[in-house]
Amino acid sequence: MRSGSDDEAPGAGRWVPEGAGVDALRSAATRCRGCELWRPATQVVFSRGPQDARVVLVGEQPGDHEDREGEPFVGPAGRLLSEALQEAGLDEGAVYLTNAVKHFRFEERGRRRLHKAPAVAHVRACAPWLAAELGAVQPEVVVALGATAARAVLGRPVSVTAERGRLLDGHVLVTTHPSAVVRLRGRPGFDDAFTALVADLRRVPR
Ligand code: URA
Ligand code: SF4
Repeated sequence: MRSGSDDEAPGAGRWVPEGAGVDALRSAATRCRGCELWRPATQVVFSRGPQDARVVLVGEQPGDHEDREGEPFVGPAGRLLSEALQEAGLDEGAVYLTNAVKHFRFEERGRRRLHKAPAVAHVRACAPWLAAELGAVQPEVVVALGATAARAVLGRPVSVTAERGRLLDGHVLVTTHPSAVVRLRGRPGFDDAFTALVADLRRVPR
């Protein structure tokens, strides 16, 4: 995967303060130039939720709404995730929400900005942030939302269909990304996809 020279994508490592708590990480991330995604984005989108959370949820990358507001999961996918968490009996205020990649990647189409999935190189460049967050929060369970998050958390390619809903490596649960469910809204598969997401979230040990 080519995404420019090492100079352009050195990875986030040198911007990540060692042993830092979540607040210090969040503030340091505003300066990150670990890959080229910071440039066209409005701002970095780090995380929300308490540092002492038992459960960490990892998404893919911020979307258009998140890029504008600077908060993860505040758009349509976030609303659907809130509903699913509630239905699964998980308190949204008690979980820590973050993303594998902290800047919005998009393509301009006229005045619209269309989501573009991050490349493996972006996930790799951004991984030091996620590692530092997991080190600071030390959760009992990490829920990876979709294949990109699962790859970031487990460090290997993951088939969500094959591996969803089971505890992997003792503490990682893989499920679908809420955006994939949002895309089915108004279509026949929506109810099943939402129910399956809730069923996976119910597997989070309490
Ligand atoms: N999708 C994600 O993966 N993360 C967000 O923060 C919002 C939408
Ligand atoms: Fe840094 Fe991650 Fe943003 Fe790239 S996407 S600039 S590695 S915070």
